[in-house]
Amino acid sequence: MTQNILILKGDGIGPEIVDEAVRVIRVVDQKYNLGTRLSEALIGGAAYDAHGNPLPGETMTQAMAADAILLGAVGGPKWNHVDAAQRPEKGLLGIRAGLGLFANFRPAILSPQLADASSLKHELVSGLDILIVRELTGGIYFGEPRGIRTLKSGEREGFNTYRYSESEIRRIAHVAFQAARKRNGRLCSVDKSNVLEVTVLWREVVEQVATEYPDVELSHMLVDNAAMQLVRAPKQFDVLLTGNLFGDILSDVAAMLTGSIGMLPSASLDINNKGLYEPVHGSAPDIAGQGIANPLATIMSVAMMYRYTFNREDVASSIEGAVSRVLDKGMRTADIANDTASVSTKEMGNAVIAELG
Ligand code: IPM
Ligand code: MG
Repeated sequence: MTQNILILKGDGIGPEIVDEAVRVIRVVDQKYNLGTRLSEALIGGAAYDAHGNPLPGETMTQAMAADAILLGAVGGPKWNHVDAAQRPEKGLLGIRAGLGLFANFRPAILSPQLADASSLKHELVSGLDILIVRELTGGIYFGEPRGIRTLKSGEREGFNTYRYSESEIRRIAHVAFQAARKRNGRLCSVDKSNVLEVTVLWREVVEQVATEYPDVELSHMLVDNAAMQLVRAPKQFDVLLTGNLFGDILSDVAAMLTGSIGMLPSASLDINNKGLYEPVHGSAPDIAGQGIANPLATIMSVAMMYRYTFNREDVASSIEGAVSRVLDKGMRTADIANDTASVSTKEMGNAVIAELG
């Protein structure tokens, strides 16, 4: 069986970090005889520059043919002037929607070696292991109507629409309950049901789905409180289920608990576990091209790829084990270095590969 993986490097630090992750893919391909076939295409600002479109048809065709996709990051100030419809982020949103990647997994696990890199006190975060399940193809990100219009008064007004259908809520709820079942059996659904009707329905549908998972303990939390609880006592959570926008925000908060957003991988899956794998962090244009970005989130996204799409827990844990040993040895890129000496993107990649050996 071949494993067809499409590589989308994207913008900013995307190419640098993906290069290291691709080296990891090649090493495990050899070691486990996986029959990997790699292809590459453009997305985001890079695709806009080449084709005037952040998601060219050719990229979408290749994405549909692939078993899994590894993506770096998109966007940057260079494209700030670009029309909203052609912005690099539209490429990412387009591929998520186009492939039906509605289930986004964002684990926030604190590597014990990095407890001091967290902005929170050691005892609040040590042993932290939470999973955010974010709905990724609906909500206010995609709701119509949307736009900027001119009112009769001549003043302009921007508007978006927050909507979720019952079936959209139900399918992501099932994913979250199943994930909770495999972990510690606790699911907290995050909404704003004291104000927004969409999330009144969200809460109702999640309650219905819960009846099929009597073994999972369900709770609900308003999003403002959830943001506060994440920085007050994050270990109270096991799995957090939420919509697209709240999940975007809360996953950055959760990421920082672990010391650096440069450490967090993510998986975005369709109904058949085909997936797009990408670090939670963005394109970091401020440090792009300097060879100092942390490649570990992307490398751990590769581990998630083997776990979720290719069902190779052995390959996934060997990559995660290598990363953990590299951290044990004190290797740190600048974002997690805490005033000590730091290594480059490439040196970090080399170290992981040496551990994979
Ligand atoms: C993320 C990013 C994206 C999002 C942007 C780049 C469109 O912030 O994956 O969290 O908002 O979903
Ligand atoms: Mg985000």
